[in-house]
Amino acid sequence: METKLWNIDQGKEIYQEAAELLRSGETVAFPTETVYGLGADATNPDAVKQIYEAKGRPSDNPLIVHIADAKQMQEFIAEVPEKAEKLMEAFWPGPLTLILPIKPGVLAESVTAGLKTVGVRMPVHPVGLELLRITNRPIAAPSANRSGRPSPTTARHVEEDLSGRISAIIDGGSTGVGLESTVLDVTSDTPVILRPGGVSTEQIEEVIGEVRSARNIPKKEEVPKAPGMKYTHYAPLAPVYLVEGGAAFWDKQIKRGLDRGEKVGLLLSDELAAEIREPVMKIKIGSRAQMDEIARRLYDGLRLFDHTDTTLILAETFSKDGIGDAVMNRLEKAAGNKYLNETSELPR
Ligand code: TXA
Ligand code: MG
Repeated sequence: METKLWNIDQGKEIYQEAAELLRSGETVAFPTETVYGLGADATNPDAVKQIYEAKGRPSDNPLIVHIADAKQMQEFIAEVPEKAEKLMEAFWPGPLTLILPIKPGVLAESVTAGLKTVGVRMPVHPVGLELLRITNRPIAAPSANRSGRPSPTTARHVEEDLSGRISAIIDGGSTGVGLESTVLDVTSDTPVILRPGGVSTEQIEEVIGEVRSARNIPKKEEVPKAPGMKYTHYAPLAPVYLVEGGAAFWDKQIKRGLDRGEKVGLLLSDELAAEIREPVMKIKIGSRAQMDEIARRLYDGLRLFDHTDTTLILAETFSKDGIGDAVMNRLEKAAGNKYLNETSELPR
């Protein structure tokens, strides 16, 4: 199939055309404030099937439903708990996905992968929001990448992964947050963060008090999980290692990699880059003092390695405060949790 590429500078008509494609059961990629999403009509099983096929996504990994107006939820949500109301008030439109109990029979079953809950979010990006408003249907939209790859923060990233596999892409420039929405399960009394993201735990707790993190809940306890989080994710082609240590430790690991004949590439902050002496490729993603910027540039940085001959990626680790929690969550997934530190150095 040929993939249409629209730019928002082409004018208002593109929203009508894109909405028509969505209403007729086709797939359209569009920018949100987090990452680009691959949208399809959530009430149309054939349309939703195209999302799974284009991405190569496992069928047991449910999709997030996007809306432009909270009233749309009445059609497919059974009940909105009080804490959810407060959060919608505080963070919608914005990068927070709420897991809510579903009213059966409206959404395609494949959207929820058979679960009795569904993730709902209202994006704040003007392009995404306008498209949803004009389409006026609940739109299922996972990140617009091939399954397992870093999420797309530009239309170019979407093209890299999905050109020829989807009907259209709307290019609205780089996304703002750069990491996906926070996924919060609000079906239990103490809500559970299933995926850290654009709204931090600290921000959520300011509004509704204590929440739990899926990470901190013992395995034996019965808790909902985000099925998507069990898969390898956000990974460039070369293996990634997370490095904990100062510049001297970095230099030592780089030397070891070079001695092994690896093409070593580094993903790091401006500050650390200035300290590393070994002459290897450095992809800088901003200042440590500006974690928002690190978040915004992370996926582009990871994807850049795929256009080089790098065979081994060493990545910096960051503080888990605020958005740092989401940054480290994605880096740990990209690295498959492989750390280099005093107790586990790169093998010679
Ligand atoms: O920022 C975002 O959330 C982006 C943009 C496009 O909106 N979307 C996104 O979707 O990241 P996706 O499909 O890549 O990630 C959705 C995550 C997955 O980990 C999935 O397992 C989880 O949300 N999820 C969806 N529905 C769920 C449910 N009913 N219960 C638990 N987890 C759910
Ligand atoms: Mg994704």
